[in-house]
Amino acid sequence: MTRVLGIETSCDETAAAVLEDGTQVLSDVVASQADLHARYGGVFPEVASREHIKTIYAVVDQAIKDAHLSIPELDAIAVTRGPGLAGSLVVGMNMAKGLSLASGVPLVGINHLEGHLYSAWIPQENPEYREPQFPVIALIVSGGHSSLILMQDHLTYTQLGRTLDDAAGEAFDKVARLLNLPYPGGPSIQKAAENGNGQAFQFPRAWLEGSWDFSFSGLKTAVLRTLQELHADGRPVLVENLAASFQAAVVDVLCQKTLAAARQFHACSIVVAGGVSANRALRKAFLDQKEFPVHIPPLKLCTDNAVMIATAGHYRFLHGFRDDLSMDVLPNWPLVSMSQK
Ligand SMILES: Nc1ncnc2c1ncn2[C@@H]1O[C@H](COP(=O)(O)OP(=O)(O)OP(=O)(O)O)[C@@H](O)[C@H]1O
Ligand SMILES: [Mg+2]
Repeated sequence: MTRVLGIETSCDETAAAVLEDGTQVLSDVVASQADLHARYGGVFPEVASREHIKTIYAVVDQAIKDAHLSIPELDAIAVTRGPGLAGSLVVGMNMAKGLSLASGVPLVGINHLEGHLYSAWIPQENPEYREPQFPVIALIVSGGHSSLILMQDHLTYTQLGRTLDDAAGEAFDKVARLLNLPYPGGPSIQKAAENGNGQAFQFPRAWLEGSWDFSFSGLKTAVLRTLQELHADGRPVLVENLAASFQAAVVDVLCQKTLAAARQFHACSIVVAGGVSANRALRKAFLDQKEFPVHIPPLKLCTDNAVMIATAGHYRFLHGFRDDLSMDVLPNWPLVSMSQK
């Protein structure tokens, strides 16, 4: 039996969770700072790290108590090492090191994106849960990343493509700002889009033929131009239609390119993870196609959490990975450097 404590502080969520045998979630605590950052329209790094400092002890303590365990009963402490905000990462890292030093429980450093991927390996209480089968084509779409990854096996990553400019979540956040919708932009656009027509505007899709990369800045500019034209012509601005048409363009590109990669690399499963995988239209597009089995985490595991870090920690621990107190945070850590092969 393995029991892993996960600690996540890479951005604006302070989170801790305990996982047993890689399948059973014994505790899952998330303290979100989203309301605090909403007034700045984005994450304010200095505010984020101060808030982590204030809440980290209580969050980890709660996770341990909810799991009815003591620290020495743990097999490993998995902590997000990067990528993320340096000042935020350091808070979780120091907490993990302190616990490890005091108890002798080994540390395992986790890449935040690897955590997002492993959220597809958490069965929760879902009786229909099936483990993704390799080779896996994984789409990570979050606030800072849009990446297509090939996983031939556990902990083995080949990056096929990434965003050349804005990440998918970043595009949602920026377009929401253009449309005067509240932060965070993803959920606001989704809500507005539900009352809009996705065909109202034919926004461009950057297919970038011959490459697995993504680009969303042209789409963002197209929304801005359309807004300016509507204003200049004195025509009504139907935010719902703009939001729905923007969302349709993003979903189209993400879904079609992922399916094409799955065909090319003979994938047995597709995994979609990261904050944008919470998007209802994106989930529907993937679940409606019947060509490949698709694994998308439940909503609460799409955005930042520590269960995913504990799950990745479980697999790393099983594969013999251990870190020591010399481990430091890596704010720009590429996922591919984690590959065990
Ligand atoms: N329903 C939704 N539709 C679209 N986007 C969404 C939705 N919910 C959240 N998002 C977007 O997800 C992003 C946050 O995701 P996540 O917490 O994984 O990002 P992050 O941790 O800040 O970035 P990264 O994981 O790349 O370091 C935000 O950009 C947010 O707008
Ligand atoms: Mg994230």
